[in-house]
Amino acid sequence: MKYGNSTRAVHGDVENRREKPNHSLTTPIVRTSTYTFADTDDLLGFMADKSLGDKKGREQYGRYSNPTIQAVERKLATLDGGTDAVLFGSGMAAVTTTMLAVLKAGTHVVYTDDAYSKTRQFCTEFLPRMGIAATCVPMGDYAAMAAAIQENTRLIVSESPTNPYLRVADLEKIVAIAKQHSRVKTYIDATFATPIYQKPLEFGIDFVVHSATKYFSGHNDLLAGVVVGDKGLLTEVRKLRGMLGCVSDAMVAYEVERGLKTLALRMERQTATAMQLAEFLEGHPLVVRVWYPGLAAHPDHAIAKAQMSGFGGVVSLEIDPRCGATPERAAANFIDGLKLIQIAPSLGGTETLVMQPAVVSYYDMSPAEREAIGMKDNLVRIALGVEDSADLVRDVAQALEKLQPS
Ligand SMILES: Cc1ncc(COP(=O)(O)O)c(C=O)c1O
Repeated sequence: MKYGNSTRAVHGDVENRREKPNHSLTTPIVRTSTYTFADTDDLLGFMADKSLGDKKGREQYGRYSNPTIQAVERKLATLDGGTDAVLFGSGMAAVTTTMLAVLKAGTHVVYTDDAYSKTRQFCTEFLPRMGIAATCVPMGDYAAMAAAIQENTRLIVSESPTNPYLRVADLEKIVAIAKQHSRVKTYIDATFATPIYQKPLEFGIDFVVHSATKYFSGHNDLLAGVVVGDKGLLTEVRKLRGMLGCVSDAMVAYEVERGLKTLALRMERQTATAMQLAEFLEGHPLVVRVWYPGLAAHPDHAIAKAQMSGFGGVVSLEIDPRCGATPERAAANFIDGLKLIQIAPSLGGTETLVMQPAVVSYYDMSPAEREAIGMKDNLVRIALGVEDSADLVRDVAQALEKLQPS
């Protein structure tokens, strides 16, 4: 019997459900930095077992693994349809460790342009320092992606939906491009979709990364990240995590696992409000463009409909530049008029948050540099929480009403 997303988010792998220590219904939090051995033979037996992670039901040292972390890893693997998952101390730890595990000096990565700013920066600034070349291709241009592949390319990196324009990658096309080459793996950051709405592994993607800080934990109160995929492929990632030390901890792992239990419920509410807000904004005279994959006018609406079972809880919009001295100020004037929605750079939690990419993630760039990479100064991202939809739409409406276009 195939269980649904909500059931798996609550129970994990139902078919292989394990009795928990002390018959506890919830996952016990094991707080220890190290683990003891009865004698040297016990230790030698452990060391002789070369498997990583779930070794004979016991651990050696906290940087390598922890039973609470393993419990959430099993649940995350099940939800995304992978055979393994590796939990990290943040989403960026998952992003960077996964890429570093696949790439080495002399190799090459192809990445799409609309991406979380730090992922983009890692590709453009950090990887070249390691002797790893990176080529940026426009999101949605699959001919450019195919043409960018070189003999030394080992990874195609994309996001779906993207941050902040909510572009949706055509996963079948990305996999088809990679499959034309024997050594090219594929990587999707699926933070905005979660496995509730999109399962990239089913399309043949190799690595699925999520910032668990966002929807998984869901309460804007922790940082975590995960990569999900095939156990064999993730071996190097797990090894590197143990070396770099970018692990999560038991308390955080417990909270991520608890968050997962309400993930589907929260996503449903956040997505319904996002759709309502997007439709309201689409008809507003002071909004020049709305970016939401659920709208027919979004460039990737057709792909999103075919590939996702929901469109997610983030809406981006461009405020009419006439509403301020500069396009950046126009967006700021709108944001500063909000009463309920708070300014903060995150998404996926219970509180609705608003953010202007130009003054946060892209603050260090000049307006001209931002324009060159397609980052509009009048762009605003609203990440819906779980408040009453009507209150949120009303808040946005009153902030727009206060604007005074010149
Ligand atoms: C799509 C995406 N991936 C990764 C990250 C990084 O996650 P974290 O903040 O948990 O490191 C973010 C953060 O905003 C994000 O939006």
